[in-house]
Amino acid sequence: MRIIRYPHTTLRHKSKELRRVDAELQKMIRQMFDLMYEEDGIGLAANQVDLPYRLFIINVKGDPAAKEEEMVFINPTITQQKGMAEDREGCLSLPDIFAPVRRPEKVVISAYDARGQEVNYQMDGMYARAVQHEYDHLDGILFIDRLTPANLLSVKESLLELEQEFCGGQRRGLIPNEQEIAARLAELEGARA
Ligand code: CO
Repeated sequence: MRIIRYPHTTLRHKSKELRRVDAELQKMIRQMFDLMYEEDGIGLAANQVDLPYRLFIINVKGDPAAKEEEMVFINPTITQQKGMAEDREGCLSLPDIFAPVRRPEKVVISAYDARGQEVNYQMDGMYARAVQHEYDHLDGILFIDRLTPANLLSVKESLLELEQEFCGGQRRGLIPNEQEIAARLAELEGARA
């Protein structure tokens, strides 16, 4: 398992709901947490590890010792959004790019946890921001899609660098081509979603 970077196609994939929570999925979730901590992240969506599932994890402390902060969201639904707030965001799939993003300040979210139990949370602050950022990933939306034109312009050069790196990787065969990516997603979706 590894984190894929912009502009990998899986990051634009609208994922389908998972049909069940089993030991294999729980193992994937554990691997996602390990990878997220290794990369100093506070959230990670399945798309970002090249899996087409409606699943994401957060630990807003980003601290592997803070187990009580580990939250898993399977087939999440955001049922309420209130207010508006702006704060700086980044993304493990867009390394070294940070910009302010406006989002609703408070959310109510329901989902299934790693044991398959239904959970409901009212969130604000960092929690609300993190779950909305990760929820977006499941619909193929990246935080750069939510920037003002001026802020988008300010990160344009970094985006071009990532695009060049990605295309170079595909040319050298280090990254699968578009057909291979699509075929793999279809296969994984057929098995679980
Ligand atoms: Co992200």
